[in-house]
Amino acid sequence: SIDAVGAREILDSRGNPTIEVEVLLEDGTVSRAAVPSGASTGAFEAYELRDGDKGRYGGKGVLKAVDAVLDEIGPAIEGIDATDQRLIDATMIELDGTDNKQRLGANSILGVSLAVAKAAADSSDLPLFRYLGGPNAHVLPVPQLNVINGGAHADTGVDIQEFFLVPQGADTFSEGLRWGVETYHALKSELKAQGLATGLGDEGGFAPELPSNRHALDLLLVAIEKAGFTPGRDIALGLDVASTEFFEGGSYRFEGRELSSAEMTAYFTELVGAYPLVTIEDPLAEDDWEGYAALTAELGSKVQIVGDDLFVTNPTRLSRGIAERVGNSILVKVNQIGTLTETLDAVSLAHRSGYSAILSHRSGETEDTTIAHLAVATNAGQIKTGAPARSERVAKYNELLRIEEELDAQAVYAGRSAFPRYTD
Ligand code: PGA
Ligand code: ZN
Repeated sequence: SIDAVGAREILDSRGNPTIEVEVLLEDGTVSRAAVPSGASTGAFEAYELRDGDKGRYGGKGVLKAVDAVLDEIGPAIEGIDATDQRLIDATMIELDGTDNKQRLGANSILGVSLAVAKAAADSSDLPLFRYLGGPNAHVLPVPQLNVINGGAHADTGVDIQEFFLVPQGADTFSEGLRWGVETYHALKSELKAQGLATGLGDEGGFAPELPSNRHALDLLLVAIEKAGFTPGRDIALGLDVASTEFFEGGSYRFEGRELSSAEMTAYFTELVGAYPLVTIEDPLAEDDWEGYAALTAELGSKVQIVGDDLFVTNPTRLSRGIAERVGNSILVKVNQIGTLTETLDAVSLAHRSGYSAILSHRSGETEDTTIAHLAVATNAGQIKTGAPARSERVAKYNELLRIEEELDAQAVYAGRSAFPRYTD
């Protein structure tokens, strides 16, 4: 059972404070988890508690969140068995008492939730993916490698936030990762050859100034071929448009114009016809349910339509999406909802409803590798965790390499089967 819960303020990959939690069990096990943080956050995400004291870290300190763990959450769960994850998460939700974890902070609650799971796994001598997923956890995810960063993650004129390489044609995770990495290096040479900047954005992708969003996709096609692969068959493409960020006063301010959701949908239809795109995340804004339904009717049988800011890992919002035929996939971010239980519930609901689920990092990350384990534990088949650069991104890929080695011959790479069948 849980003996004590500790917490501290550490730093994330952007140099902002975040919370790390340690759980001590009666048997002496000590395990820790750190909480990530977004930049292009959805309005419906669970609440991230920050100090607001401008005298420290520009107001971004998390000492209040640390205190919430030490003073309230810890005492409320001490004595409970660490394998009682649902009880522990429910206890924290009840203790918080608000709809969006506003009182204690979703960051405090999530840190404890994840550290409890790790302690339970460590104490039973199981890797986290196996403790959570049981003997059937064996599917290695296809990575969505975000190799060009725009939008809120880079100070350039590129409106679309993320451009992914999706190495779906590989036989194994490690091979797919290598293909992605080789293409990442080819992309760097191509950027240099075109006189474009090779500085990195928040998620490790390059952040060049480009004349258009299509230009970024063209660069990826060139890089894939230069690296010796076939676009589409070997390595497909994907986008996170993060369009809530440029939705203003009822229209999308995209490439210098003001577009309606129907015009945005027409733009994506053209892109899907012209490029080997297998996934498009947040093509429309987080509350544009009608536009999203029309877009899904148009494109949902051709490409994966992923709700990130739209669903915010929230089973209630996902249920609405399922009922209204909005999207066909959910991005899953542990800190959008704030407990492991609710995260796993969102993945289960998606899978039961014929939606795919993609485990995802945040743009502000730490060396914590929990999401790599969650991807395998849930057999989700997809993970989005940035470019193969910057250690907080690479840490997740490296952990997946270790998991692949541990599963050995039983590891199955999701490959093309990760995506709905129509993308074949
Ligand atoms: P965020 O971006 O972590 O800054 O919210 C990631 C995303 O939009 O998927
Ligand atoms: Zn997103």
